[in-house]
Amino acid sequence: MTPIEIKNKTNMTQRDGFTSTFGVLVATLGSAVGLGNIWKFPYLTGTNGGAGFLLVYLLATLLLGLPVMIGETMLGRATRANAVSIFEKLRPAQPFWKIIGYTGMLAAMLILGFYTEVAGWVFAYIFKALSGSLLHGDASAAQAQFKATIANPLSALAWQWAVLLLTGGIIMLGVSKGIEAVAKRLMPVLFLLLVVLCIRSLTLSGAGAGLKFLFAPDFSKVSAGVILTAVGLAFFKLSIGMGTMLTYGSYFRDDQNIPVTAGRVMLADLSISLLAGIAIFPAVFTFHFAPTDGPALVFLTIPAVFASMPGGQIFMVLFFVLTALASIGAILSLLEVPVAALTERLHWSRRKATALTVLLIAILGAPAALSNGAAAHWTIFGLTFFDFYDFVSSNLLLPVGGLLLCVFVGWIIGRDWVQSQLSNRGLLANQAVVTGVFMLLRYVSPVLIVIVLLRGLKVF
Ligand code: PFF
Repeated sequence: MTPIEIKNKTNMTQRDGFTSTFGVLVATLGSAVGLGNIWKFPYLTGTNGGAGFLLVYLLATLLLGLPVMIGETMLGRATRANAVSIFEKLRPAQPFWKIIGYTGMLAAMLILGFYTEVAGWVFAYIFKALSGSLLHGDASAAQAQFKATIANPLSALAWQWAVLLLTGGIIMLGVSKGIEAVAKRLMPVLFLLLVVLCIRSLTLSGAGAGLKFLFAPDFSKVSAGVILTAVGLAFFKLSIGMGTMLTYGSYFRDDQNIPVTAGRVMLADLSISLLAGIAIFPAVFTFHFAPTDGPALVFLTIPAVFASMPGGQIFMVLFFVLTALASIGAILSLLEVPVAALTERLHWSRRKATALTVLLIAILGAPAALSNGAAAHWTIFGLTFFDFYDFVSSNLLLPVGGLLLCVFVGWIIGRDWVQSQLSNRGLLANQAVVTGVFMLLRYVSPVLIVIVLLRGLKVF
């Protein structure tokens, strides 16, 4: 069951929870898996030097991402509240901590500002795949086609609005149950399709070069800025540092083994990203694209691989449909943060909260949507709106949100409480795991985040 269904069922008067362990896993994965795996992970790995970046990203996921995810879901489950009210409930005398919820809402809005645009590109590519116009495998034609798709102001805005209306509608109409049921069945298909793509890619002539780029680290390329980007990606991927996992944790069952669930989500999420990387990089080297092609990367390489396969067109349509579905799951979880907070704190109806949120994102998102064409010259600190939203959310707000969470759990809430929560009040024999998570949250993760942030932002 998704949080959205739960909200619709309960009329906001009482809170319910996920009905099964599997339901929790699917819903949490639905938030984590999205454009981050298929679009952002490959393109950032490409622009940041390959394997060295991947290694830092893996370390960041283990040392920062996993403990913060465990901490967030734990706080949500213990309080059964939205991302802002959680802190009010736990420390009513210290209003400062509500800032975690508020920065989370801001981060969610900024992420949605560019994420809905990229989801729009995916939708546009479903139709291109259907028409057969992507089946050429020619690098410069593919680049021109992608540029034309994203530069057209009308279609950029129209696709973004279509995505916003669709996802806002799903939340308002309460049809997320259907979506979730479909997604649950289709996620394994996405996984299988990625495996097929990987097999095809590994038999391409550039497979060796692609794998070397992805797995043989060149540490000279790992600068402080690259490390900050990898940390930001780790947070973005696991939907943490901005309230989503706080909110989702509030729907977890009391008997859920939180560390185990978070570990499974992390592993499944990493596998999907790695598969996407293995599918893409051999194609980059075979079809003469550049790893540094940036946000265009997946839109260039994946069609080229399919074009080189029998039955490629059908697979290509399926690929973009599944990617679109995965992006919808992530968008629903992003919308849930402000919508849950607005309905519960201001006693707005779900409909009103969703309408206002979607409207705000449409306004905020428009300059990002136009960043690749008409508004390319509108910049903030030298970045287009699209890049600025991405940078501020991933490289600033998510790590800061994660840092505050570490301090809150490690230093304010304290060990006994964490022990009791993560062991389900002593029912689980997981003392060593809990001690490890607590030590990471108290000492290791906050120190690492501070160093990475300060160095990455060139403060010292
Ligand atoms: N984790 C999603 C992805 O990788 O596509 C994006 C995302 C969803 C980020 C929800 C943050 C979030 F709260």
